[in-house]
Amino acid sequence: MIVMRMPQKMVRRLERAKSLDGVAKPVAKVVQKAVRPRPVRNTLSGTNLGHPLHPSLTDVPIGAWTMAALLDAAGGRDAEPSADLLIGTGIAAAVPTALTGLNDWSDTLGKERRVGLVHALGNSAALSLYIASLITRMKGDRQTGKALGYAGLGMMAIGAYLGGHLSFVRGVNVNRNAWQEGPEEWTPVLGEHDLAEGDHRIAEAGGVQILLHRMGGKVYALDATCGHMGGPLDEGTFEHGCVTCPWHGSTFRFSDGGVVRGPASTPQPCYETRIENGRVEVRMPPVGVPAGPAEEHGAGVGRGHRRQPAHTSAF
Ligand code: FES
Repeated sequence: MIVMRMPQKMVRRLERAKSLDGVAKPVAKVVQKAVRPRPVRNTLSGTNLGHPLHPSLTDVPIGAWTMAALLDAAGGRDAEPSADLLIGTGIAAAVPTALTGLNDWSDTLGKERRVGLVHALGNSAALSLYIASLITRMKGDRQTGKALGYAGLGMMAIGAYLGGHLSFVRGVNVNRNAWQEGPEEWTPVLGEHDLAEGDHRIAEAGGVQILLHRMGGKVYALDATCGHMGGPLDEGTFEHGCVTCPWHGSTFRFSDGGVVRGPASTPQPCYETRIENGRVEVRMPPVGVPAGPAEEHGAGVGRGHRRQPAHTSAF
């Protein structure tokens, strides 16, 4: 028998609350339209940063408001200006944090979309309470300002719990290729003549699905699963030396796996290719060695990066 704790039970209920879809669907449509321009999408998704921007930004309001609560509770009169400054800092940071969160949320569906909606509502309530708290403090009513701040802290904690659930339980915006390692040795995957110019095929090497594409007489190879949320890249659009994912429109360069357009923020794993004995072969490029596509006869040279072990952390 599975024993669930109270917060888990409540989140499970939220996941099943289909009544939320009536609000979530039209709001998501509006957000999707607003973030469609490439610069907006790339900025809010963290495409140029190399991982999603929203989780990094959340640290600022959470940290500022938590410290403000600590100063309110134990800092005395001397700490009042610092507490006010921290509350103002959290309010200022909450705006870009909310925008990046809305961008990420707009790509979700079903359970993730429902929980994400309540996550956003909780954080919006926290922001409103902190704005009211700051105004009240400025007017000289510190006790009410503190009470509003504590209420804001409670709402923020609920929002943070739901955000953690989305990331660590539901896997929203977790790189879908994080645990995949392609072959380190040259591995034949296809006959040289099985891939016509402009065509693409899926092949398996080292337990990884690899997308092969021939253009300009060269064969390029990328991980076939979109790192954003697992979309099938072989069903995407192929143009201008890139493939565009059919699910949310992330666009990856074949030459190096780089992200041209978000929401993906992690480059798509890119493989070296060569043609040997009439077979197309692939491997992960060795560390520090430029990699690239195979030409019609013989190996070509381009750029690529071998992925680091899957369980390393940036922190
Ligand atoms: S799964 Fe979202 S862009 Fe590919």
